[in-house]
Amino acid sequence: MENKKRKLITLDEFTIQQTRKFQNATGELSALLRDIALACKIINKQVNIAGLVDILGKHGATNVQGEEQMKLDIFADETLINVLQNSAECAGIASEENDEFIAFQDEFSWNSKYVVLFDPLDGSSNIDVNASIGTIFSIYKRVSPLGSPCNEADFLQAGNKLMAAGYVIYGSSTMLVYATKLGVNGFTLESSIGEYCLSHPDMKCSEQGKIYSLNQGNTNKYTQGLKDYLNYCMEENKEEGRPLTHRYIGSMVADLHRTLIKGGIFIYPADKKNVNGKLRLQYECNPMALIIEAAGGKAEHGSGRILDIEPTELHQRTPIFIGSKNMVEKALSFTK
Ligand code: AHG
Repeated sequence: MENKKRKLITLDEFTIQQTRKFQNATGELSALLRDIALACKIINKQVNIAGLVDILGKHGATNVQGEEQMKLDIFADETLINVLQNSAECAGIASEENDEFIAFQDEFSWNSKYVVLFDPLDGSSNIDVNASIGTIFSIYKRVSPLGSPCNEADFLQAGNKLMAAGYVIYGSSTMLVYATKLGVNGFTLESSIGEYCLSHPDMKCSEQGKIYSLNQGNTNKYTQGLKDYLNYCMEENKEEGRPLTHRYIGSMVADLHRTLIKGGIFIYPADKKNVNGKLRLQYECNPMALIIEAAGGKAEHGSGRILDIEPTELHQRTPIFIGSKNMVEKALSFTK
């Protein structure tokens, strides 16, 4: 077999090449992506040495959702805010960890086109057990006038208005995956040169998978339709390749990364306790929906597309059925 040596393409090189495809592109989006990628390198370093620097464990505070924050959550949140505040491309941010959005108050930021939303460290209940966690980010073009501070309307845009979204997974390797409407590409962090290098070009989510992923321990709280779907997943059917395999890490980034690479379905439904589901529309569901849809998959809330929900609150939650197209359609045929 011919041993063709592939040229290493860094994230910066890749985004610059993409920018050249558009006549009026200014490179601002690429620069913003570079800033987010930088913040995630800093977070990655801290995640890797967490056990050594006594940063593991609870911080003692609760966030706006009433959840206990871990020290690493706060470190990741502050890192992203600091890096983006110094970026010339970001007018303001909203974070899952903070009650309100932050409009940056300097002239550079007032003239910046974009706002960024993020979940700084998703899956934080997995920190202490060294399982994969991640940062999820979304980029919108602001709707407020340039030359003034950004406002809430910039952050309450539907997912179908997203310019780009992505995640960084801190796993057995560190990967940055991001999507625009053009497609999805994955970059692995090469620590010896400190660069994310293109490793998974043009990622696709297969139409059919073999894995279903949800918190099966909550089955008693699920609707009859969803219980019936779970029974369908577990039933023997050789022609259809069932029973399916169940996998659930409890870290959305890790569960969705597997779904993107191997196919499958991830569900966080509404249930008796969480009537709107648990996951946040603006910080978790919209960015993941853009990624999976751009890769050919499907992301629904039960009776429509996640990306078409018009958000009314910054910390809004939504049920989600996301992953391989055929599997999402099958699940919805039970639950609708
Ligand atoms: P957190 O960041 O607070 O750990 O939340 C994790 C989220 C998401 O990543 C994961 O899919 C889901 O919560 C897990 O929730 P359950 O524990 O209820 O299954």
